[in-house]
Amino acid sequence: MTTFRAAKYLAGVAVVALSAVSAQAEESVEVLHWWTSGGEAAALDVLKKDLESKGVSWADMPVAGGGGEQAMTALRARVTAGNAPTAVQMLGFDILDWAKEGALGNLNEVAAAEGWDSVVPTALQGFGKYDGNWISAPVNVHSTNWVWISKSALDAAGGKAPESWDELVAVLDKMQENGLTALAHGGQAWQDATIFDAVVLSLGTDFYKASMIDLDPAALGGDQMVEAFDRMSKLRSYVDDNFSGRDWNLASAMVIEGKAGMQMMGDWAKGEFLKAGQVPGQDFVCIRFPGTQGAVTFNSDQFAMFKVGDDRTGPQKLMASAIMSPTFQSAFNVVKGSVPARTDVPNDAFDDCGKKGMVDLADANSSGTLYGSMAHGHAAPAAVKNAVYDVVTRHFNGELSSQEAVEELAAAIDAVK
Ligand code: BGC
Repeated sequence: MTTFRAAKYLAGVAVVALSAVSAQAEESVEVLHWWTSGGEAAALDVLKKDLESKGVSWADMPVAGGGGEQAMTALRARVTAGNAPTAVQMLGFDILDWAKEGALGNLNEVAAAEGWDSVVPTALQGFGKYDGNWISAPVNVHSTNWVWISKSALDAAGGKAPESWDELVAVLDKMQENGLTALAHGGQAWQDATIFDAVVLSLGTDFYKASMIDLDPAALGGDQMVEAFDRMSKLRSYVDDNFSGRDWNLASAMVIEGKAGMQMMGDWAKGEFLKAGQVPGQDFVCIRFPGTQGAVTFNSDQFAMFKVGDDRTGPQKLMASAIMSPTFQSAFNVVKGSVPARTDVPNDAFDDCGKKGMVDLADANSSGTLYGSMAHGHAAPAAVKNAVYDVVTRHFNGELSSQEAVEELAAAIDAVK
C-alpha cells in the first residue's frame, strides 16, 4: 500500500469508527429503578445485557426502597428540574398519574407492530395504556400474598404447610418454641402494608375488593377491618426486637440462613432465595398466605417512557420491544421471582413456585379474584396508598389499637379519595 493509499484507508477507518461511536452514543437509555437487592440486581443484569446485545448502552439510576416511594420522590425532582430519565420503573396508578400530566411518550407504534393488545392481560393494560395509547411496557407480574418458609424450620414444626389462619398461628407458635424468630420482617411502612394486603385478603375476596379497591366506608370502618388489625397485632408478636427499619432482603436472609421461620412478602423474595443457591421444595417452601388460596393481589413493574426528545425515542422503542420479547420475559422473570406479563410465554424454564405463580394468576384472572395490590400501587392512587401505609404502620408499632386504626383508616381515606 502506498503512503497515500494507506492514509486514505486509515481516514476511512476513522470515519467508520466515529460513526459507530456516535450511533453507540445515541443508543443509550438512562433507567431509574429500585432494584438494588442481590436478586433484583441479578434480574436487572438480564435486562442490561439484553439491551447491550442490541447496541443500547445503559446508564443506571438506582434509588433503593421497596415499593418505590423513594424512587418516585427522586423522579419528581428530576422531572421538575427538566431532566427526566429515559425510562422509569413504575407501578400502577403512578403510571397513570404521570400520563395524566402529559409527561409520558407514546409506544403505540411498537405495540401495534408486536401485537401487545392480544398478549398482555387486560388488568395490566389498564395501567400500561392511558386514553387508548400505550405509555409503558410491562416487564412482569408480581403478587403480594405469598409466604416463604424455611423447609428445615417447617419440618421441625411438624412439616405441614399451614392452610388456614389457625394453622398459620400454630406453626408460628411452634417455630417460636423451637427458638427461632418465627416471622422475619422489616419494620418499614411498605413492608407492613405488604402483609396487610394478604391479611385483608385472608378475610375474604369480597372484603378485599370492598375495602381496598372500592374504598367502601362500611368495609373500611367495619368489624372485619378490626379483625384484620387484630391479625396484624398477632403477627407482630412473632417478629424479633430488631425489626425496625430492616430492609426486606435482610429479612429474607434470616429465613435463608435458618435464623427465622418464614417471611410474608411478594415473590421478589424468591429472587433472594435463588441468588443464595436455594431450591424450592428442598430448601424453602412457597405458599399463598393461608386463607387467600385462589385469589391474587398483583403488582406489575412497568417501564414508563418519558418524553425526553425525539433523538431518544429510538432507544426507548428498542427497550420497550426488548422488554416485551417472550424469550426475554422468560429469562428475566425466572431470575426476578415474578411471572411474565404476557400470556403466551412457556413455563418450562420456571421452577415450581414460578409455575404455581403462573397458574394462580391465570385462575384468579378467570375466576374474577385477581385484585390490584394496595401496598404496591395497583389498588388506588398514591394519596390513598400513603394513608394506608401511615395507619397500618402506626398500628403495627403499637401506637394505635385495632379500633383506633379502623377509625383512622376510614377517616384518612375519606379525606384523600
Ligand atoms: C416491585 C418489585 C421489587 C419490590 C422490592 C416492588 O414494589 O414491584 O419489583 O422487587 O418492590 O423492592
